[in-house]
Amino acid sequence: MRDSVSRIGCTALLALGLVLAGCGDDQDPDGAAALWTRIHAESYASWARAPGYATRQPSQAAHGNAVEIFVNAVAADALAAHVPLAAWPEGTLIVKDGYDGAEHKLVAAMEKRKDGWYWVEWSASGDSRYSGKPSLCINCHASGQDSIRAFPLPK
Ligand code: HEC
Repeated sequence: MRDSVSRIGCTALLALGLVLAGCGDDQDPDGAAALWTRIHAESYASWARAPGYATRQPSQAAHGNAVEIFVNAVAADALAAHVPLAAWPEGTLIVKDGYDGAEHKLVAAMEKRKDGWYWVEWSASGDSRYSGKPSLCINCHASGQDSIRAFPLPK
């Protein structure tokens, strides 16, 4: 069964609407590389931590079995202002490190741009697997407030 699945290949599975780990949906590799450079230039791991994520937290999501979530100054300021918002402001950038046990498996990010959220998931070494507006990310995040799953909008 495993063999026959791997023989069908990623493209065929994606065409059938099935998504397997490793298939990916890298719509904008250059944009993903630019964002990788930017979050590291800004040392994202030194940003404020997301509400409820003062330390590494267990995760049931698609991002490894434990996560750390960091928010940039735009999001941190919006949280600190305690003014109710219907959506996160443009410029909001949230970065998440995903771990399997002690192993750093992936980095994921969401940035609020003029045309809505821009999504990326990279390997821990910075190879993008998903970028742009992948339906995989968008669909699972649709249940969050303005697509954010880990914490609510300021209210
Ligand atoms: C199966 C559901 C699911 C899918 C698919 C998914 N996510 Fe998430 N994501 C979550 C959940 C749940 C959280 C909340 C934190 C946690 O438990 O890991 C989260 C958290 C995040 C966060 C931190 C901000 C927030 O929304 O809480 C980022 C950034 C993120 N995901 C990016 C992505 C990207 C990029 C993709 C597509 C490659 C993606 N996610 C696909 C469920 C999902």
